[in-house]
Amino acid sequence: MQSLQDRHVVVTGGTGALGTAVVDAFVSAGAHCHVPAIEKVAPPVRFADPGRVTIATDVDLSNEASVEAFFRHLPGLHAVVNIAGGFAWAPIGDSTAGVLQQQLSMNLVSCALSCRHAVANFRQAGHGGHIVNISARPALNPRQGANMTAYTASKAAVAAFTVALAEELKNENIGVIALCPSTIDTPTNRKDMPKADHATWVKPSSLAALIVAQCSLADPLDSGALIPVYGRA
Ligand SMILES: NC(=O)c1ccc[n+]([C@@H]2O[C@H](COP(=O)([O-])OP(=O)(O)OC[C@H]3O[C@@H](n4cnc5c(N)ncnc54)[C@H](OP(=O)(O)O)[C@@H]3O)[C@@H](O)[C@H]2O)c1
Repeated sequence: MQSLQDRHVVVTGGTGALGTAVVDAFVSAGAHCHVPAIEKVAPPVRFADPGRVTIATDVDLSNEASVEAFFRHLPGLHAVVNIAGGFAWAPIGDSTAGVLQQQLSMNLVSCALSCRHAVANFRQAGHGGHIVNISARPALNPRQGANMTAYTASKAAVAAFTVALAEELKNENIGVIALCPSTIDTPTNRKDMPKADHATWVKPSSLAALIVAQCSLADPLDSGALIPVYGRA
């Protein structure tokens, strides 16, 4: 295992529900986190130790120029965790081209562009690195994707992209994996599903611990893995 003390890590979606927990976990392991936010003014986020978090505003991760500009000013990175993304409930009657494009843009394009610039940063620094992407359970079991076909397809695309990229980078000591969570225990999910058994859901802090452990591996032997993280659901 490697120490993360004073390492630099990008966490996309780091101001969101899962992202905040992941940033806090990296910071408590000694890392410095760089968080791109789409807003023009940094959103109010409560990190445990904000002194080790740099938020870059006005970064649209689905826009190539915006992603390039964000990565251009970063120091040599140890890891990039691609959490930015989002969900659309859309039965097929509502799943227009606009919904499909929005889901692909938000989930696949944001992840792919961030990976592209992460690899350039690792190569420039002359060392390996870790990439952790966030897919979702329906990517591994699309039968669970009814009424959310655009979301399911976009997260399946993230999974396929992850495996293909891992293969492309296998001789560069760059590990690329994706976690495929079921429902995460977030405030939004609790509000939307008040009667569900929240105890069975995946805790953001548990996912964060898994991501930090992955990025602490000296030799990413599991590159290309798509890891189910289903809690007790
Ligand atoms: N919640 C679940 O049950 C669940 C289950 C499986 C997988 N996942 C996946 O896990 C990830 C995190 O979920 P979450 O519940 O923590 O979501 P969340 O709270 O909505 O956080 C997502 C973050 O991504 C950011 N983002 C989205 N598009 C962006 C863009 N184009 N440029 C820059 N930032 C962008 C959002 O910023 P803004 O808020 O400012 O737009 C937000 O900070 C997502 O990829 C989600 O699909 C979630």
